[in-house]
Amino acid sequence: MPLLIKNGEIVTADSRWHGDIYVEDETIARLGQNLDAAPGAEVIDAAGKLVFPGFIDPHVHIYLPFMATFAKDTHATGSVAALIGGTTTFIEMCCPSRGEDALAGYLLWKSKADGNSACDYAFHMSVTRFDRQTQGQLRKIVADGTASFKVFLAYKNFFGIDDGELYEVLALARELGVIVTAHCENADLVAQLQQSLLAQGKTGPEWHEPSRPESVEAEGTNHFASFLEITGAAGYVVHLSCAGALDAALRARRRGVKIHVESVLPHFLLDKSYAERPGVEGMKHVMSPPLRDKRNQAVLWDALAAGSIDTVGTDHCPFDIEQKLLGKDAFTQIPNGIPGLEERVNLLYTYGVKAGRINLHRFVDAASTRAAKLFGLFPRKGAIAVGADADLVIYDPAYRGTVSAATQHTNNNYNGFEGVPIEGRPSVVTVRGRVQVKDGVFVGDKSRGCFLKRNPSFF
Ligand code: URP
Ligand code: ZN
Ligand code: ZN
Repeated sequence: MPLLIKNGEIVTADSRWHGDIYVEDETIARLGQNLDAAPGAEVIDAAGKLVFPGFIDPHVHIYLPFMATFAKDTHATGSVAALIGGTTTFIEMCCPSRGEDALAGYLLWKSKADGNSACDYAFHMSVTRFDRQTQGQLRKIVADGTASFKVFLAYKNFFGIDDGELYEVLALARELGVIVTAHCENADLVAQLQQSLLAQGKTGPEWHEPSRPESVEAEGTNHFASFLEITGAAGYVVHLSCAGALDAALRARRRGVKIHVESVLPHFLLDKSYAERPGVEGMKHVMSPPLRDKRNQAVLWDALAAGSIDTVGTDHCPFDIEQKLLGKDAFTQIPNGIPGLEERVNLLYTYGVKAGRINLHRFVDAASTRAAKLFGLFPRKGAIAVGADADLVIYDPAYRGTVSAATQHTNNNYNGFEGVPIEGRPSVVTVRGRVQVKDGVFVGDKSRGCFLKRNPSFF
C-alpha cells in the first residue's frame, strides 16, 4: 500500500526542510510540499515531528557463541528491539571461531537470520584464521554480497589472528576492495596482565579494566594502522574507547592511512566506576575494550562532533545475569558485552543533540549515513531521496521516558542503562515502506527484514 508522510521536518546528514514524503513499492517515490496520496494510501501526519532516514547500527552481535555461552538475542528479538529504537538496518558480526570453517560459519549465520528478522541486515565476515582454503572462501563470501571483513587483535586462540594472518587478510581486502573492521587490543599484553592480576588474587570485575588498560588499546590501534599503511587496505576501528587509541588512529589518518573510527554507546555515557560496583552489578558493565576513566568521554564527544569519530554503534551483545555470574570467581570468565541496540538512537539524541554536544546533521550522519557510505549501502540506505529505500523514522522530540529492563524488547534480564532518562523516541518506524513500529509498539511483519547484498567499495 502506498504511504504518504505529511508535514514533517525532514532531517538528513546535510539538509533540513518541512514537507511530505510519498512512498510506493518500498522506495521513496516523491518528495515535496502538499503532495497528494493515491486512493487507498496510508497517510501519516508528522506535524511537530522530525523525520530521519532509518538508523543503521554498524556493529551488533545477535547469534554469538562466545566465552562458554551464547549471546541472548535471536534475530526475532534483536530485530524488534532495533526497530523499536529506530534502527532499521544492522550489520551483524559473523564470528565463527578459529577452529571453525569460515564458509560453513557464514552460511550458519545467514540461516539464523533468514526469514527471522523484522529489520534489514548485513554481515561483517570475521576472519579468525587465514589459510589457502579460507582465502578462497572469503572470495565467495564477498561475491555473495558481504563486502566487509572483521579481524580481532584480541581474544587470543579464539577469534584472534596473528600478524602474518593480519597481513594476508588486509592484502586480500585491498585486492577485493573490501573494508576491514578491527577490534584493536594487543592480545598478548591482555593475556599477561590477566594472569598477573589473577595470581595476585585480584579476581573481581573491577580488575577487568586494569587488565586491558588504555595503552593496550592504543598499541592495538597503532598496530592495525601500521598494517593498513603497509598494505594500502582501508580499515575501520570498532568500539574505540579512549583518547590514546583515538590519537593513534588520527595520527595515522593525517599521514594518509585509510582508517575510520567507530565508538559505541557505552563509552560515551558510562565510565569504569560502573564495572567497579560490587558483584554482579559490576559484571553487568564488563565489555572490551572496557569502560574507561570518565575523562575520555569529553574527548569522544568532541571527536564525534568534529566528525573524526565517524560512527556510533552499539556492539550490542546481551548476556543475562546468570551468564555474567560465570565470572564470579575470575573476571576473565565474565562474558563480555553491554547491550544497547534498542537504546542507541534515543540516548544519542538525548545526550548528544539535546545536550548540545552534536548537531542534528552529525547525529543522522553518525547513526546512519556515514555507516551506509562506509559499508556500501548508500544511497539505498542512510538517505531520504527519491529511489532510496523507504526506511523512515518519524521521531517525537516531545516524548519523555526512562530506560528500563522492565520495558525493553532485547532478550535480557537487566539493562546497563537502567534508570537513564530519555528525551525523544521514534513515533513511527518503517522498513521499505511498511509501518513496523507505532509509539513503542511493534505492529508489523516479523519477517520483513532482508539480507542486504553490498558491493566492494574500492576506497
Ligand atoms: O565486550 C564485547 N565487546 N563483546 C562483544 C565481542 C566484541 O569484542 O565485540
Ligand atoms: Zn570487539
Ligand atoms: Zn563486537
